[in-house]
Amino acid sequence: MSAPSFLLTPDELRHRDSSKWQKYPADVLPLWVADMDYAVSPFITAALQDRLTRGLGYFQLQDEPQMAALLRARLAGQGVTDLPDGGVRSLPGVVPGLYAAVLGLTAPGDDVISMTPIYPPFMSAVRDHGRNLRAAPLAQTTAGWTIDWGALEAAVTPQTRLFMLCHPHNPTGRVWTRAELERLADFVLRHDLLVVTDELHADLTYPVDGVQVPHTAFVSVNAALRERTVTLTGPCKAYNTAGLGIGAAVSHATPLLDRMGRATAGVLGHASALSMTMWEAALEGGRPWLDAVLAQLLQNRDLLTARLAAELPWVGYHAPEATYLAWLDFRAHPRHADIHAFLLSEARVALNDGPTFAPDAQGFVRLNFATSPAILNDAIDRIVAACRLPDA
Ligand SMILES: Cc1ncc(COP(=O)(O)O)c(C=O)c1O
Repeated sequence: MSAPSFLLTPDELRHRDSSKWQKYPADVLPLWVADMDYAVSPFITAALQDRLTRGLGYFQLQDEPQMAALLRARLAGQGVTDLPDGGVRSLPGVVPGLYAAVLGLTAPGDDVISMTPIYPPFMSAVRDHGRNLRAAPLAQTTAGWTIDWGALEAAVTPQTRLFMLCHPHNPTGRVWTRAELERLADFVLRHDLLVVTDELHADLTYPVDGVQVPHTAFVSVNAALRERTVTLTGPCKAYNTAGLGIGAAVSHATPLLDRMGRATAGVLGHASALSMTMWEAALEGGRPWLDAVLAQLLQNRDLLTARLAAELPWVGYHAPEATYLAWLDFRAHPRHADIHAFLLSEARVALNDGPTFAPDAQGFVRLNFATSPAILNDAIDRIVAACRLPDA
């Protein structure tokens, strides 16, 4: 079988505009920021080139009919049905949506709950604006990362207004089950919390026992969530287009979206014409490329799983159910106190450092396996060699 056409070589990847490949010296393999080492879908690049033949003036931002229909159909496939007019608002990215939710749905001094470890902007969005983060640590069990329901209850205070969910979850790769989502729904209803749920990784789930299961949006599991939930979505993780920022805030409760809009009026900026074209093309014709990429990611995930089990069995790891991110527990290594710096200097592999995802995550690193099998194998070889214990 020939290699997929989207695979790129290190020479192609280390171009001058790439943050991922420029941050570290040339002998370092960069498996950190969540970009994929894959060429963008030709369907998308063709649409972008075509878009450049038309003017780049102000464009239809919210309700261009074809884009609106494609996005609503995509959301309906995830269980987000019956959206009202005005229930989909474009954003210049998903992180701006996290910040807009904190600003619009809470007041200074309010408490906000998030389950940690977590993608860092969940924490900075809360802290940057004088709200208090109430972290509910996930539980690490032999079966994988699970919700610590006791910790979640303990995180609630009389000042708690907002629950921030990441589904699928970055960095653990958990796809919350329907039973977990239903119990989370009971939790937010019982405590009268608003919800912002970041579902940016929804298109990056892996088959379960060989069957591809559609993503279940949090808001879809209980009708009572509709009046209190904002879902954030976007194309950049699945289609590898983070350089063209865009996203959407979606809700049945348009007053929540109005509050987010008012709180950020004039400062958020709008998505760009090219990013809108990119997203429309992804929704219209990106699926074959995404399916091929998902097959590659699954192969890489299983390669990583097998090699960790065989060669680094003391590294704590649970294969992600979604995302191309692996959350690795190196706390059994003698250099756990500076494991990120150790792997950078000794293995020449750049990962993301655990404490950026939770203060108690020293000894963990996040590895991005969305690369070629050759680069992934090289990175694992280097980590194995660097971690060989003296008496091994
Ligand atoms: C959960 C999650 N949300 C948001 C983002 C970034 O979104 P954007 O680039 O659209 O702001 C990422 C990027 O990795 C992510 O993992």
